[in-house]
Amino acid sequence: MGTYRVEIHADAFARLKTMAEDVQRGLGARPRWLPPKYFYDARGSQLFDEITRLPEYYLTRVEDALLATHGPALVRELQPRDLVELGSGFSVKTRRLLAAGAEAGARLRYTPVDVDAETVAAAARVLMTAHPALDVHAVIGDFERHLVHVPPPVGRRLVLFLGSTIGNLDPPARENLLAQVRDLLGPDDQLLLGVDLVKDVAVLERAYDDAAGVTRAFNRNVLTVINRALGADFEPGAFRHHVRYDGMADRIEMHLVADTPQTVRVPALGLRVELEAGESIWTESSYKFTRPSVETMLAAAGLRLERWLTDPRDWFALVVAGVAPRAA
Ligand code: AVJ
Repeated sequence: MGTYRVEIHADAFARLKTMAEDVQRGLGARPRWLPPKYFYDARGSQLFDEITRLPEYYLTRVEDALLATHGPALVRELQPRDLVELGSGFSVKTRRLLAAGAEAGARLRYTPVDVDAETVAAAARVLMTAHPALDVHAVIGDFERHLVHVPPPVGRRLVLFLGSTIGNLDPPARENLLAQVRDLLGPDDQLLLGVDLVKDVAVLERAYDDAAGVTRAFNRNVLTVINRALGADFEPGAFRHHVRYDGMADRIEMHLVADTPQTVRVPALGLRVELEAGESIWTESSYKFTRPSVETMLAAAGLRLERWLTDPRDWFALVVAGVAPRAA
């Protein structure tokens, strides 16, 4: 059996403090905003899981199919000895990747980076049972802040950043993150990135505004999370789920619109927010990419595209990237 090690860089108290700062800044700004990372409490994670099974939400299904088609050959070809995964959750995709291509008996270390220690421990247990030669070195923290704690590589490294999670980051934030990922990579190492692609606007809008209303519940849940954590008194039902595609920025936006004036108190912050009728809180951006926009984004971080794998409709891409050689 392999070894399990865990380092905690963001405990519940530190996370609450960061949330308080984010909420203070976001609700005080115009337009008002809240960071999408607070969607995922137990109920939010459950709702997201339901979203991944909705007929309109193609992202997870298409990425899974791409991983099933290309994963085994990729793992055999790259032969990673050191896997790092950002936002690993239950490590479902990693489980499949390892099952598909890992050389039996080859020593392998897995470094999941995720905020939830319990989820990571449960995922590690499953992985370590299936792969007795697997060592897990978990880094509990925020992948935007705590990648410096990823331990030095033990062999050829593959960094996984799947599910179009990168789509939640604005251009400056994703450039910053990718530059940190680049610093984790040596000349023979790779990043495997999952990105959602620009496509017909109706398809995109439906994926974020499903007929069953699961995404509406997911969006409103962020208010419930803030009510509980900071003692706020948002009335989630008073906010309408609104989705729009911004074709200039290539992003889906989710908003919560107050159709009637709303007064919200956040006692933990000594904050009172007055929302006018029609005012909205911007809760998520989900950026969509093209091959050129991915190449530009990678180049800005000192990375270069090595493989571009898409489905027949060009709806989603798996990107293999490596360190760009430095200009002479
Ligand atoms: C988990 C960030 C990839 O942006 O598609 C799903 C989250 N938001 N439905 C996405 C989400 C609304 C999702 N990511």
